[in-house]
Amino acid sequence: MKIKEIETSRINEVDFTNLEFGAVFTDHMFSCDYINGEWVNPEIIPYQPISVSPASRVFHYGQACFEGMKAYKDINNKIWLFRPDENYKRIIKSSLRLAMPEFPENLFFEGLNNLLKLDSDWIKPGLGNSLYIRPFIFATEGSINATEANQYKFMIICAPASSYYSGEVRVKIEKSFSRAAKGGVGYAKAAGNYAAQFYPTTLAKNEGFQQIIWTDSSNHEYIEEAGTMNLFFRIGNKLITAPTSDSILDGVTRKSLIQIAKDQGIEVEVRPIKVEELIDAAKNNTLVEIFGSGTAVVVLPIKGFGYENSKYELIQKENSWAIMFKNILNNIQYNLIEDPYNWTVEV
Ligand SMILES: Cc1ncc(COP(=O)(O)O)c(C=O)c1O
Repeated sequence: MKIKEIETSRINEVDFTNLEFGAVFTDHMFSCDYINGEWVNPEIIPYQPISVSPASRVFHYGQACFEGMKAYKDINNKIWLFRPDENYKRIIKSSLRLAMPEFPENLFFEGLNNLLKLDSDWIKPGLGNSLYIRPFIFATEGSINATEANQYKFMIICAPASSYYSGEVRVKIEKSFSRAAKGGVGYAKAAGNYAAQFYPTTLAKNEGFQQIIWTDSSNHEYIEEAGTMNLFFRIGNKLITAPTSDSILDGVTRKSLIQIAKDQGIEVEVRPIKVEELIDAAKNNTLVEIFGSGTAVVVLPIKGFGYENSKYELIQKENSWAIMFKNILNNIQYNLIEDPYNWTVEV
C-alpha cells in the first residue's frame, strides 16, 4: 500500500472543544480504485479534493453506499474499534444490493489500521471524544448508461467527534412519507436512503420535531426506525424493538443493546410493534422510555412524540435504561471495563 504523508498537519487549526459533527476531517484519507474487475491502487494520501468525471454514475443513478463507525482512545492512549467486522459485513451487504463489487476484507482493515495509526493524534482521549470513520464506495465510471458501473472508488475519511448533545429530542411518527419499501434498499446503507429523508424531515422540523419515526410503507401501521437510529421502547418492564427486515438497517448498536439488556436480566421482545400499541401505552402510562441507538449518538433518549394531531410527552424516569445502556456501552468502547463480549478490537 502506498502511503504519502502530509507535510504539515492541520491539527493545530482545529478547536477540539467546539467540533461540528462531520465537518472537519483528519490529515489523511484512504482510497482504492476498481478497474477492469480488480481493486487496484490502494493508497493513503493527504486529505484533499478528488477528481472524477461529471458523468460518473454516482451523480446520476446514486450508485453509492457507506458505513459509519468509530475509534476510541483509552486512558493509556490505546486505540479501539467497536465491532468493526460488523461494519465490514454490512458494507458488503449494501454493495451487493447496489450491484457494486465487494471490497476485499484484508484491504479494508489494512487501509483502516494504517489510516488510524497515521492520524492517531486526531483521536482525543476522554469519554465522549471519538473519531468518526466513514468508509464509502461510489460509481466513478464516466458514462451515463443506466446500468451498473464498471469502475468504482472505495474511500475512508475520518472526522474527529465530541460528545453528542442534541438537546431534548421529540420525534414525529410519519404517516405519509416512507423511508423504505418492502423489497427495496432500506436494509442497505445506500446513499439515496438518506437523501429521501431530508424533505420529510424538514417538514417535521417545521412542526417542532427533531426527527422522524418511520413506519411501514404499506399501511404506516408498524414502527420501523428513525433517520439514523434503531428504536427501543420500554413498555411496562419490557424492552421492545422491531425485528430487522429488508426495510430496516441492522444496527450494530441495536444488536449490542439487545445483548446487554438480556445480560442485565431485562425481558427483551424483538417483534413488530404497532403505532397503536405505542399510543395505548402512552395513554395508559405504561410507556416508560423511548430511545434511539446508533453509532453517532450511541443511545439517545426521546422526550416525546407526535402522531396525527396529538403530542405525547414521556415523564423522565430516574432509573433510565437509556442512560444505563449508554454507560455500559461507553465503558466497553473506551476500555474502561473488561469487554465481556470481545467486541472491541485494538488498532
Ligand atoms: C437508517 C439507520 N438506522 C440505524 C442506524 C444505526 O446503526 P448503527 O448502530 O450500526 O450505527 C443507522 C446508522 O448507522 C442508520 O443510518
